[in-house]
Amino acid sequence: LLLFLFSFAHTLVESFNEEKEDIKRSQFPDGFLFGTAASAYQIEGAYLEDGKSLSNWDVFNHIQGVRHVENADIANDHYHRYLEDIEIMHSLGVNAYRFSISWARVLPRGRFGEVNPNGVIFYNKIIDNLLLKGIVPFVTLHHHDFPQELEDRYESWLSPEMQEEFVHLAKTCFKSFGDRVKYWTTINEPNVFSEMAYIKGKYPPARCSAPFGNCSVGNSDLEPLIVMHNMLLGHAKATKLYREQFQAKQCGFMGMVASSSMYEPLSDSELDREAANRALAFNVAWNLDPLVFGDYPPEMRRYHGSELPRFTLEEAKYIKGSIDFIGINHYATHYAKDCIHSSCIEGGDRAIRGFAYLTVERDGVPIGEPTGMPGFFVVPRGMEEIVEYVKKRYHNMPMFVTENGYVPPKQEAVRVEEQLHDVKRIEFHKAYMASLARAIRNGADVRGYFAWTLMDNYEWVEGYSLKFGLHYIDRQTLKRIPKLSATWFQNFLTNSSFNI
Ligand code: NOJ
Repeated sequence: LLLFLFSFAHTLVESFNEEKEDIKRSQFPDGFLFGTAASAYQIEGAYLEDGKSLSNWDVFNHIQGVRHVENADIANDHYHRYLEDIEIMHSLGVNAYRFSISWARVLPRGRFGEVNPNGVIFYNKIIDNLLLKGIVPFVTLHHHDFPQELEDRYESWLSPEMQEEFVHLAKTCFKSFGDRVKYWTTINEPNVFSEMAYIKGKYPPARCSAPFGNCSVGNSDLEPLIVMHNMLLGHAKATKLYREQFQAKQCGFMGMVASSSMYEPLSDSELDREAANRALAFNVAWNLDPLVFGDYPPEMRRYHGSELPRFTLEEAKYIKGSIDFIGINHYATHYAKDCIHSSCIEGGDRAIRGFAYLTVERDGVPIGEPTGMPGFFVVPRGMEEIVEYVKKRYHNMPMFVTENGYVPPKQEAVRVEEQLHDVKRIEFHKAYMASLARAIRNGADVRGYFAWTLMDNYEWVEGYSLKFGLHYIDRQTLKRIPKLSATWFQNFLTNSSFNI
């Protein structure tokens, strides 16, 4: 009993320390990038202006009957207010900004049409104004949205044709912006994209692997695997092109961003430990192993066998080593329980969960404080753990935390003043950054941290109801109003003291 009490008290003290550890900018290496992240569809609006075509998300959100009652036609109107937004970033004191290119704005018809000069002008203005303010542009080429025409013509990422489309987009962007952009990430979270669009049916084209998801027609279980395969090859071909034709002159770096949740064993048993390892391999390494080693994780091969697509020898050669850095989007930690030796009641997504049952409770105790996003709980140690995992598996290749952020439970009924007083968001970032700083002290080569996100925006399935921003947006006037967390971030970045 004494032992139990001691370890209980120890855990309490540890978690208290973890939450309260102070964090200073000086704890991060010189030249470390600190910024905020965003994506085109979630903030730009101007969905049909200046030659932009309809994207897959525009069409999806306009179709009657789907549950998306909101759309991002206007979103935060960043398309017209980008100068104000860059000014806000500047006053925060960030030295980097991660944003994505709207494919439908730059190449409205993909390879079937011309480059849209207005699209190029828009991103040129963003890049130039960032640089004027000393903010490094960190550009994502694909963040969930692409021209609907590519979906209509060949079912987009289910077809290898999409690889060539993507290379065409990449080439256009390297040519147009590569003289000033030094950090490229090709595709944001292919692992989430495949899952949400081809297993759960929640992102366009809303296909579901039966018996899972929320569409009536089930598709083949293999689709998410095929989609990932095409995305990885599209990435690898774009990187090959960059290295052959642009890198020597432009001196930039290529990366890929994986959604990187942490998985801990539910119990101490060997089987649950293996389940947690499998969950990591089936999620994170599914996305990253091919880019570093030239093939899918052995853990996946063992269970998927011939279902898992294969890279030809030629493909393996150029996909291997096709990243200069890894982008880690980290929000969540789950417990994993073995589902191979014991039967688990769970959904049909075992094949991408590593045959593990994922839960956020152990003996009825939640893994951390809940947030507004189902499955996201506040577990700061998860940051250190996932960085450690990526560091070990990929020989400490350079990493960036490309997203990390807090969303409170839905805010509809919460007064604006209270939303602005977002103490929990401050505590979240402090605790996660402290956890990241521990990983760095332990030798992890992490080079940047991007808070998701500068301002409340369109949160995909959840529309505007989930608010991750350091700034509140008045949806009537679109006025940007700083939350307390914006002031905290500014103080953190300028090494000033900050008291709540
Ligand atoms: C990751 C995605 O990249 C981003 O688009 C999304 O808004 C955040 N997660 C929060 O869910």
